[in-house]
Amino acid sequence: MAAAAVDRYAYTVPVSREWTVEHDALRAHVIRSTTADLVHVLDPSAQIPYIPQHNLPTPPQTSPVLAPLDLRSHPALERVSDTPVHEMIQAIVADKDEDEAAFFAADLSAVYEAVQMWRASALGERVEIFYAIKCNPSPVVLHFLSLLGLSFDCASASEVNQVLSLPAKPDPRRIIFANPCKAPSHIRQAAQGGVDMMTFDNADELYKVKRTHPTAKLVLRILTDDSKSLCRLGLKYGAPLSTCPGLLATAKQLGLNVVGVSFHVGSGCKDPAQFSDAFWRAKKVFNMAKEAGYDFSLLDIGGGFERETFAQMSEVVRDALDVYFPAASGVRVIAEPGRFLVSSAFTLATSIIARRRAHMPDEPVAGPSTPMSLDDSPADAEGEGEGADVMYYINDGVYGAFNCIMFDHQIVHPYPL
Ligand SMILES: Cc1ncc(COP(=O)(O)O)c(C=O)c1O
Repeated sequence: MAAAAVDRYAYTVPVSREWTVEHDALRAHVIRSTTADLVHVLDPSAQIPYIPQHNLPTPPQTSPVLAPLDLRSHPALERVSDTPVHEMIQAIVADKDEDEAAFFAADLSAVYEAVQMWRASALGERVEIFYAIKCNPSPVVLHFLSLLGLSFDCASASEVNQVLSLPAKPDPRRIIFANPCKAPSHIRQAAQGGVDMMTFDNADELYKVKRTHPTAKLVLRILTDDSKSLCRLGLKYGAPLSTCPGLLATAKQLGLNVVGVSFHVGSGCKDPAQFSDAFWRAKKVFNMAKEAGYDFSLLDIGGGFERETFAQMSEVVRDALDVYFPAASGVRVIAEPGRFLVSSAFTLATSIIARRRAHMPDEPVAGPSTPMSLDDSPADAEGEGEGADVMYYINDGVYGAFNCIMFDHQIVHPYPL
């Protein structure tokens, strides 16, 4: 397909319905501009191997079930100027008058590039993407990814419904309900929507599925080494190898259809050896399944990928696949990347709403002084002399958009406009 340049778009509804409920005042502005601009805003010193691309080519049509790709015809997208993200943020802020509410700016071309990076990598030929929508359920991101022919990893009934109601009407076979501990009502709703693929890692879940969706295609989520990852998901999910024969025997007794294995090496995986270890374990469970009377056909390698290390990780994964699950085995391989696809596309704009001098923990508490004027430095106004540290207060925090600091161990970098 010819790569025609398409225009820039702005998306000026809240970034996610769920976030809007939680953050009443949060407004999102999704804009698309050049990747170089976005990288500059996010991290001027970034060494990320972005593809230098100034016009976003028309995305290739990858799935025959999709409608023709004309993003302009979608009502959620409207044309805007070719403005870098930081300038767009400045313009939005200037326009907002007295409204200092925080908002997100996003660059869909960064999402597009991540998909292209995956497809051009050692994994591209073999591993299908099921985007983990919990990482960013923004309707425009989901819409965009569905147009690119991606499938989806959902963790709840509401996520399943969100995907099924996208304008591209994705086939329910393009969803995996990848939560090993589901509420019965969520399984029923998924079944009603035609979603069959779902994970489990414990015997109770098998009995639950037997009651609520007995024809489901079950995927056994196994525990793997995630000790070198930023977010260790194994603390919550994953069956140790020693429990797998028992789980498979129970599934067989219940007449359930177990089709494969899934794992997740932890988000922000820093050690490629964790992937090699996970493939070795998965292969063991494929063999256990044979003994239990199953013939597995699916391997789900989860997420954990980061842009910075993707080239190396994808080669390790490709090599492990060649060793344990070569293409000739006929095993279908899927992955559930989340952060890899979206994290570099979103920039949060917040306002500084207050400032004051920072008091050191061992310092005596000083008495009140003259009120601070905007022309004073906080240190001057509080009578503490030069060199004092200043604390700036912004209007979002760890209970809001910065929860990644608590849960994902992220370090955030502020860039004053
Ligand atoms: C089951 C599952 N799949 C995929 C993901 C996405 O992982 P990542 O963002 O590391 O790619 C997560 C976690 O966020 C998850 O829990």
